[in-house]
Amino acid sequence: MPISPPTSPVPRDVPRTPDAAPGAADVGPCACGPTRRQLLRGTGVAAGAIAGAGVLAACAEQKPTPQEAAASASAAGAGTVVVALADVPVGGAVSAKVGGQDVLVTQPTQGEVHAFSAICTHAGCTVAPGDGELLCPCHQSRYALTDAAVLGGPAPEPLPAIQVEVSGDDVVLA
Ligand code: FES
Repeated sequence: MPISPPTSPVPRDVPRTPDAAPGAADVGPCACGPTRRQLLRGTGVAAGAIAGAGVLAACAEQKPTPQEAAASASAAGAGTVVVALADVPVGGAVSAKVGGQDVLVTQPTQGEVHAFSAICTHAGCTVAPGDGELLCPCHQSRYALTDAAVLGGPAPEPLPAIQVEVSGDDVVLA
């Protein structure tokens, strides 16, 4: 019985980032422009590379590291209101902004609050509240509510903490 040659199970043009989980979307580390791959697909690799370098440099300027974002948020000063305590679900988290930075405020148990930079330690996407955890939409890194420890995915380290406390009805910078 003749054996037919194997066919490739994956089309050659399937977009995938090199470190993405199988099936993950082709999402770049920065939402401010096209990915390097998208630019290289365009007409004229040299022109695309030049334009891409400019766009990526601009992204690098706009996106702080997780540690820089946490420090910048903390610099808003003690007593700065981050979010109303009533807006933080018990056993969950809420997204907020403080000092111009994206942060996540969590409340694992009633009255226990924590805050973290929302900048993913993998490639800089903005982490969001998940189902009893924190979840990066780009490559599905997952972080714990209590200490932002990595629960899964490619993130190499926890999200940096931002010191907060409850003051009256609010969660404020400590
Ligand atoms: S940027 Fe890759 S998991 Fe968050």
